[in-house]
Amino acid sequence: MKKHIKIFDTTLRDGEQTPRVNLNTQEKLRIAKQLESLGVDVIEAGFAVASPGDFESVKLIAENIEKSTVTSLARAVKKDIEVAAEAVKNAKKPRIHTFIATSPIHREYKLKMTKEQILDRVKEMVSYAKSFIDDIEFSSEDATRTEKEFLVEVYEIAIKAGATTLNVPDTVGYRTPNEMFELITYLKNNVKGIENVDISVHCHDDLGLSVANSVAAIQAGATQIECTINGLGERAGNTSLEEIAMILKTRKDLFEEYYTNIDSKQIYPTSKLVSLLTGVSTQPNKAIVGANAFAHESGIHQHGVLANPETYEIMSPESVGRNPDSLVLGKHSGKHAFVQKLESLGFNHVGSDRVEELFAQFKKLADKKKYVLDEDIIALVAGEAAKIEGRIKLAHFEISRQEGKKPKATVTIELDGEKLIKEALGDGPVDAAYNAVNLAVSDTFVLEEYKLEAITGDTDAQAQVVVIIEKNGNRFIGRGQSTDVVEASIKAYINGINRLYSN
Ligand code: KIV
Ligand code: ZN
Repeated sequence: MKKHIKIFDTTLRDGEQTPRVNLNTQEKLRIAKQLESLGVDVIEAGFAVASPGDFESVKLIAENIEKSTVTSLARAVKKDIEVAAEAVKNAKKPRIHTFIATSPIHREYKLKMTKEQILDRVKEMVSYAKSFIDDIEFSSEDATRTEKEFLVEVYEIAIKAGATTLNVPDTVGYRTPNEMFELITYLKNNVKGIENVDISVHCHDDLGLSVANSVAAIQAGATQIECTINGLGERAGNTSLEEIAMILKTRKDLFEEYYTNIDSKQIYPTSKLVSLLTGVSTQPNKAIVGANAFAHESGIHQHGVLANPETYEIMSPESVGRNPDSLVLGKHSGKHAFVQKLESLGFNHVGSDRVEELFAQFKKLADKKKYVLDEDIIALVAGEAAKIEGRIKLAHFEISRQEGKKPKATVTIELDGEKLIKEALGDGPVDAAYNAVNLAVSDTFVLEEYKLEAITGDTDAQAQVVVIIEKNGNRFIGRGQSTDVVEASIKAYINGINRLYSN
């Protein structure tokens, strides 16, 4: 019988810990829905106790996800467990994920706890979590730097107290594949009762080994892999979901006995959605989802691929949802074709009212752009999820420039319903427009980051602008899209200010 490797996605928890990533509740829900379409078994929706916003997001996701298990992280303390239990209680399949660090360095310097105290805490808190929910995951933080014998004691106590999944995090991304294989083998051979629970690994990428370590763990008997879309996460990030799923699928010769529930055709749309919403783009040479992952530059390669794609391609772009020849929409495409396209990209969770709005936006875009590509549709869905009903709306703008003078922006906005028109000069059209917006709202912000990317190729491509604005130590991301780069820039700036004002 084939072995099911569960995919536990922590994009919304560990991934959200990526520096500067800050998703709001609606954006998190949209990503969670997409993860469900992708076939993820467990969605770690957040760390409910961290803030009221985190609690609300976990709760909303728990209430809206049907197929995947929804979990919240919780330290091994009563309050965290109570809040996590409350947040996931309405999920169809709820789980609590509780953890405590076990390595000597964490025991001595962070927790200031003895081994005995840790064992007592694990017993008490796993039992406490079990009193709310049956499905309990227990993680030994920094497991891979913990004494093996102690780890065995910790996991045995967790199993006795009711844990149904034991997670082995390589928290600092320190181990190599051989060591990971040995550790999982050791635990399998020594932890009493381990055959009745799932063994999970959670690898970080500090040495670029997270995926390799996860694969080694599967070979040693791990049944759950914790990962994130695009490998997002703390520091160098986490195991990348798309890489794990495609390794198991592409190397059937090695991994015939394993399968995941991932629908690989949803990988690319999901990756794009996450990068548009988080504002973190993937590097061009990123495996599976990077812009160049299927591009063949050299003549020899191009010749080979034309003769037979398998000369240089071990998987097809279509198998991960990158469809260069897929149905391209244009201004004559109707709603039926549009809805079909949404579905083929995995966006069958977009509600009918949203579809109407998206279709109207699509029509506007198709008027400006000859071909509306998959990436454009994904960007529309991301833009719609990132939309925020804020105090400011952009009504109109104009840029003028006289030879030898600075550009001038005239920006009309609605602030709390009141129409305001302001003019300002700047070093460039975007600077001028931002100065005019500042005048209109009688406020100033530090623009910490400004990033402009074309969503597709060609001169009529949509631009996506991501900004980070700072005010009194608080940072907000803003995003805007348009076929006009200045408009995309102003929208991003206003989106950021609206987030700041609604906070
Ligand atoms: O990296 C880590 O150890 C974690 C745990 C909380 C699972 O994220
Ligand atoms: Zn982690």
